[in-house]
Amino acid sequence: MKIAQVKINHYENPLGYDLENLRVSYKICDALGKKQKQARILVSINPDMSDSVYDSGAREDIDNLGFLLPIDLMPRTRYHVQVESWSDANEYAKSEIFWFETAKLNEVWEAKWIGSPLGKNTPPVFEKEFETFRECQKARIYSTGLGMYEIYIDGQKVGDEYFAPGCTNYEDRIQYQTYDATPYLKNSGVHKIEAYLADGWYKGRFGLRGRENNYGDDYAFLAEIHIFDKYGNETVIGTDETWLARKSEITFSSIYDGEIYEPEIKNSPKFENAVLKNIGFELLTPRNCEPVCIHEKISPVQIIKTPAGETVLDFGQNMSGFVRFACKIPKGEKVTLQYGEILQNGNFYRDNLRSAKAEYTYISDGNEHEISPHFTYYGFRYAKITGISNEEILKKFEAAALYSDIKRVGSIKTSNEKVNRLIQNSEWGQRSNFVDVPTDCPQRDERMGWTADTQVYCKTALFQTDAYNFYRKYLKDMASEQKHTGGAVPHVIPAFEMRGDSCSVWGDAATIIPWSLYLFYGDIQILSEQYESMKAWVDYIYSIDEQTGGKRLWSTGFHFGDWLGLDSETGTDVKGGTDDTYIASAYYFNSAQILAKSAALLGKSGDAQKYGKLSDEILAAIRKEYFTSTGRLAVNTQTGYVLALAFGLCPDFAKERIAADLAQKLKLNKVYLKTGFVGTAYICKVLSDNGYNDLAYRLLLNEDCPSWLYAVNMGATTIWERWNSVLPDGKISDTGMNSLNHYAYGSVVEWMYRSIAGLNPTEQSPGFKEAIIAPKPDCRIKEAEMSYDSPMGTYKICWKIEDDGLFKLKVEIPFGARAELILPNAQKEPEILASGVYEYSYLPSPPLIKTYGISSPINELLQKKECIDVLSSFGIDANAIPAALADSTIVEIKHMPFISITDEKLKELDFELNRIK
Ligand code: BGC
Repeated sequence: MKIAQVKINHYENPLGYDLENLRVSYKICDALGKKQKQARILVSINPDMSDSVYDSGAREDIDNLGFLLPIDLMPRTRYHVQVESWSDANEYAKSEIFWFETAKLNEVWEAKWIGSPLGKNTPPVFEKEFETFRECQKARIYSTGLGMYEIYIDGQKVGDEYFAPGCTNYEDRIQYQTYDATPYLKNSGVHKIEAYLADGWYKGRFGLRGRENNYGDDYAFLAEIHIFDKYGNETVIGTDETWLARKSEITFSSIYDGEIYEPEIKNSPKFENAVLKNIGFELLTPRNCEPVCIHEKISPVQIIKTPAGETVLDFGQNMSGFVRFACKIPKGEKVTLQYGEILQNGNFYRDNLRSAKAEYTYISDGNEHEISPHFTYYGFRYAKITGISNEEILKKFEAAALYSDIKRVGSIKTSNEKVNRLIQNSEWGQRSNFVDVPTDCPQRDERMGWTADTQVYCKTALFQTDAYNFYRKYLKDMASEQKHTGGAVPHVIPAFEMRGDSCSVWGDAATIIPWSLYLFYGDIQILSEQYESMKAWVDYIYSIDEQTGGKRLWSTGFHFGDWLGLDSETGTDVKGGTDDTYIASAYYFNSAQILAKSAALLGKSGDAQKYGKLSDEILAAIRKEYFTSTGRLAVNTQTGYVLALAFGLCPDFAKERIAADLAQKLKLNKVYLKTGFVGTAYICKVLSDNGYNDLAYRLLLNEDCPSWLYAVNMGATTIWERWNSVLPDGKISDTGMNSLNHYAYGSVVEWMYRSIAGLNPTEQSPGFKEAIIAPKPDCRIKEAEMSYDSPMGTYKICWKIEDDGLFKLKVEIPFGARAELILPNAQKEPEILASGVYEYSYLPSPPLIKTYGISSPINELLQKKECIDVLSSFGIDANAIPAALADSTIVEIKHMPFISITDEKLKELDFELNRIK
């Protein structure tokens, strides 16, 4: 038995993070037993655990998903943590020693905020020389900046993160970082510390509406360096007016427009003293953002000379990050880079970036330099280069993918390579849009924390990665924005210039994300921390409802609705055709229900009752307004039916009918999607759960537009914003709003984990302490394999449909967890499984392998390419068969003019169809 991944507030060995509600979590593996019997948590200052700060004693009530540590923390102190555990098979394990180190907490800052005397539009570098007289044992830097900053000691960058202090609503919260500076100050002597400042998210142009200086118009910096020698003597160096300021050689940087680098400036610096800035300390908070770091490093797959004569590097993968290179060119010469996602007519193209210039300019000082941007990033696959044409040099250019440092925990693979590429595209979509904030896209003049994009993708992200703290930071920013808006959730978080706007689906991120984190992590603290925000959001909708007659519907105001759905009746190309107020009321219900459940879990019985009643009333109002007494839905769209089933809006007796109506609606559209942001997130799950698993797979496996695999066939390496972002002839469909790296539709991957593999968390025992494992295979995919390192440990599910129809399944359940296993087509009751590995092999009934023939429903034949080919070899054009006949068989319609086939030929056709597996 082993104890692994001991974490503090879901961080691994956190240095200077926000550690509110201090708690420890851990996992147990390699055990013979099934469950933990007892555990003991020890905390000590000494790394050998010799001085106990806390000892829980061996106890039976220690929850490995989150045990609160009742310790009063001291500032700037490292604590060590060790866990002991005993299993029900009398095994014993002791973890390695993990640690956490506090930030300054409530300690007064000795450092002073400093600013630049060089003017608000000149990015400064602040510097200070100091001497250390003995070898340094330990050094820490506590620092922050307005806007972004990077610190260097003796020319070496401290740490490997980008974009500190992170993107928050700087009016309310400014995060400060804690860096371990020990390695940089090891030797005694004179050292130089430099801090580069840049606009970042704080100042300059940022935001959809192009406002300048959202939070301020001037740079500021704060740092306190604590150096300890081997005798424990401490020296503190804080920013103050003795620091010097000079003009930065990074003369311009902007998230949208890029960066300009002129090293010559550093060769003849002019210094002035820094000035003190009158900025308070009350907004400072220890960081909660995960650092943004370089991950994949990708060499060009092709150096292209375009028909227009441009030199373009193709990195083969759309991503967020930048290109870096080494070069030595004569003084005064320039190298420029421009970034784009797609070529058009073989030429470099970037009109879909709108006003974002997305450029980089290097002006040489004649020396050799390693060149890489610092305070900007790009969304790109291609880079156009001017100033260097030597192929040998260009080959060494490297794309660095830059995103928040979050561990991967899930993977899923099928026997279908196109589906696998789709999964990778979704994963790349997440990487590209997890740049401190969950953004909509990484390339154009937006890159903002759009709430709906985040909300619909959140559960996919949680299957793919350990994103607890990434979302927690976002939720903290959301809560802080709501304090200015009377509970309304702005469309983007942090809100920048859009604080005044709020609507359904987007704002419901306030309830859906914390609830999802609770389900995936089983840690109730997230509900407790976000409770006021969740409540404020529901109360905000309630106040609108009250002002408009108290109908318990959300029936007024602007809503984005089923954004980008294809069934618009008004001819707009951005809004689907599903009634806005139906969608808004459905989410009002969903949010009120989540709030009521959260209140009950937190022991707030008054609120649990109040919001339980409210959600009952909303549901009753929705049923009255949108459902007939016999259970027919008045909102006759794909998304309309999907929401009715996903949120449990329809009365139980009507479920079957609504599902059948959804299936019919799809068949009338030849089983193609028309859904936008709202419906797409749920459609496959709803179909799989309501008897139409075959249609869910059909939607997944469609290859024409609109479908997921259409983009894959068109060479997409990320998820597109629109179903038809690129047209079949390779032309981009629109430049106004068309990103090729927008992860919202990648939310289909959640369904793959939940239904193809079959892993689902439960509300009764969240954090995967209990799971429902219910794979829903379909013979069009022969094999699937999933692994998910849940907070309890790793679940694995792997299945295969053999040629003879045998279904083989292997399931692994981690220590301490249990699962309800529902075997597909097994005709037997669900089983409850404890931790362990289980294997099954049986002939499903009805069989999973489909047989085809002239008595198969037309729509089944049309789902299989081989069948379509056979039909066409008999002169039957599958596309000419009207959708209304989808449920009929060839035999039934053999005399129709578009079929018209002799009985003899019919037999032959049957024979050929029978042969298809
Ligand atoms: C963004 C979105 C967002 C939408 C609001 C777009 O510009 O890129 O994905 O949710 O606006 O409808």
